[in-house]
Amino acid sequence: MKHTHYIRQSRLFCMYRNYVLGIQKYLTGRDVLEVGPNKGVLFEKYYPETKSYTLLEPNRAFEKDYVQLKRKYSNLQYEIGGFETFTEDKSFDTIVMMAVISHIRMDSQKIFEKIDRLLKKGGHLIVETNNTKRNLGVFPLLEKNYRKIESKASYNGPMKWLKIDDRSVFIYKKA
Ligand SMILES: C[S@@+](CC[C@H](N)C(=O)[O-])C[C@H]1O[C@@H](n2cnc3c(N)ncnc32)[C@H](O)[C@@H]1O
Repeated sequence: MKHTHYIRQSRLFCMYRNYVLGIQKYLTGRDVLEVGPNKGVLFEKYYPETKSYTLLEPNRAFEKDYVQLKRKYSNLQYEIGGFETFTEDKSFDTIVMMAVISHIRMDSQKIFEKIDRLLKKGGHLIVETNNTKRNLGVFPLLEKNYRKIESKASYNGPMKWLKIDDRSVFIYKKA
């Protein structure tokens, strides 16, 4: 897979997204799984505060970035592979899925079931939509089975007015 420059993982954009998202409280002290982290830098500033942070990414081009990150953060792990084939037995306190749902090659019910298997009771799912309709069927399943505790636009202020990109972030709690 080719690694092209991706603006949403640039330093400034990550600072902006951290500011808008405000998800630190769901990461501190938790076992976290991030699916499709790209370069792995979006939530880097919170890695030291987590109990463990696992990156799951199919694009091997990012492995060199993860090797560097692992040198800095001893609680960081990574696996090169897709969500479809992830066979981890352990479950997580928080699962982060930013703009990755539409890339997953499973039907919506199976995606939900796998999230549910990987998420601990009382845990949080932080999920951002993509700009396509693929796999949007996951969201009604999340609404039905989990409690939605936050809902926000991915961008606000001038970024929102520019309408370059239109995404939402939802935070669910599993009872
Ligand atoms: C649109 S990018 C989002 C990157 C990052 N989450 C962000 O918000 O900046 C989608 C990411 O998901 C990864 N991805 C694609 N298919 C995937 C799959 N089946 N399982 C897990 N990740 C996948 C891509 O390689 C890429 O890093």
